Amino acid sequence: MAKLHLITYGCQMNEYDSERVAGLLREQSWELTDAEAEADLILLNTCAIREKCEDKVYSKLGELRRLKARRPGLVVGVMGCMAQLHRADIQRRAPVVDLVFGSPAIARVGELVARVRRGERPLVETGEAPLVKLTAKPDGADHLRSYVTVMEGCEKGCTFCVVPTTRGRQRSHPPAAILDEVRGLAARGCREVTLLGQTVEMYGRDLDPPTDLAALLEQVNEVDGLARIRFTTSNPFNFTARLMRAIRDVPKVCEWVHLPLQSGSDRVLARMERGYTRQRYLDLIAELRATVPGVALSTDLIVGFPGETEDDFEATLEMVARVGYDNVFVFRYSPRPGTPAATYEDQVPLPVKAHRNARLLEAAGRVAAVRAAALTGRTVEVLVDGRSRRSAAELQGRTRCNRVVNFEARDGVALGDVVGVHVTEALPHSLRGAVGPMPEEAVCLSR
Ligand code: SAH
Ligand code: F3S
Repeated sequence: MAKLHLITYGCQMNEYDSERVAGLLREQSWELTDAEAEADLILLNTCAIREKCEDKVYSKLGELRRLKARRPGLVVGVMGCMAQLHRADIQRRAPVVDLVFGSPAIARVGELVARVRRGERPLVETGEAPLVKLTAKPDGADHLRSYVTVMEGCEKGCTFCVVPTTRGRQRSHPPAAILDEVRGLAARGCREVTLLGQTVEMYGRDLDPPTDLAALLEQVNEVDGLARIRFTTSNPFNFTARLMRAIRDVPKVCEWVHLPLQSGSDRVLARMERGYTRQRYLDLIAELRATVPGVALSTDLIVGFPGETEDDFEATLEMVARVGYDNVFVFRYSPRPGTPAATYEDQVPLPVKAHRNARLLEAAGRVAAVRAAALTGRTVEVLVDGRSRRSAAELQGRTRCNRVVNFEARDGVALGDVVGVHVTEALPHSLRGAVGPMPEEAVCLSR
């Protein structure tokens, strides 16, 4: 069997796509290998969200040039967001590349690889194509927790973001196809699914007949064997009261919401064209907390967006403390080709970005530590999903609020089980505890 090595960069959607590509190629007799040096085909599934992500890919392609010199038959392919953004330029900059294809061409990966192997190289395939739901998975890809893409693309057009260019129009997959996929995953032992979309709260509005995320959550909730449902990423712009009620009322949906804020300054939010103000965001959080008590929140923040002043940045710091996030992802603004913000003249110098990045992480860490400390002494519901990295005698799992918990293994507790864990210690990135009786309330934190 010919051997395929896959390297995945970037977001969960890319992880999902990579598994589907491996599954499709398996149907064409390609076998996955971890050993790059043994591969006949190396595919890089790329991310273009920031320049740093692209740099990593080019440096990897530089390494692969040496490997290819020793293995002339090796085929190197670049797929995903960079492929869609830079198209033929990738091959021009890195001639080691034989094949470039964007997300719309994933369904045809087998045919594309076969053409390259027949000598048609370089091959660049980055056109539009109809939406298809791919469910092929490679051998051994059965997980207790899985992602399921429910919609593709984004049409929001935030001025910093390249996703609308790389992932195209917003298109939802029909509920029936999603449910089929979730049932298949559950039948193979999956206990938790995370429904993926760039603006997942917009799910279904483009379908005929239209539907919405709340309705989809209710349907997914009916799938036997599944214990938990999450969804990401939500944009605050369209987060409805109906969706909040679904988080509260649909039993398997976890009380955890990833809600990117990006900036705490109205001036910056307006220039980002995010579609909400700081007050609107705070109102939304208040409504969410009133509907779903104890809901855990995480967010994405950008530092050093063009024109961001010290005051703007402090407004972001203040929002982090005010909202009380469980987890925060901080990104330094990176100008992206074709986006409006890249042309703004008031770009922020790199050292300022680096300094703000560090300050924000520190502040967010303090807030998260207080939230975690509030869990000590309480019993949380944990889905057991692995062994702890520290010791084989320890199991690991996640709370409904998405925190990692380590605890001693015990007879009768197996991977995939949902158990109660009494939290004894809150560490910076995880909790420690002991198996105990299941909590009556599924709530993570009191507020
Ligand atoms: N759909 C999501 C965002 C997807 S991109 C939303 O609605 O917000 C994931 C994260 O990358 C974004 O939330 C943003 O914080 C970050 N990001 C996107 N473009 C960026 C850029 N040009 N520079 C730095 N960070 C960026
Ligand atoms: Fe990007 Fe904004 Fe869409 S951040 S993915 S354009 S919602």
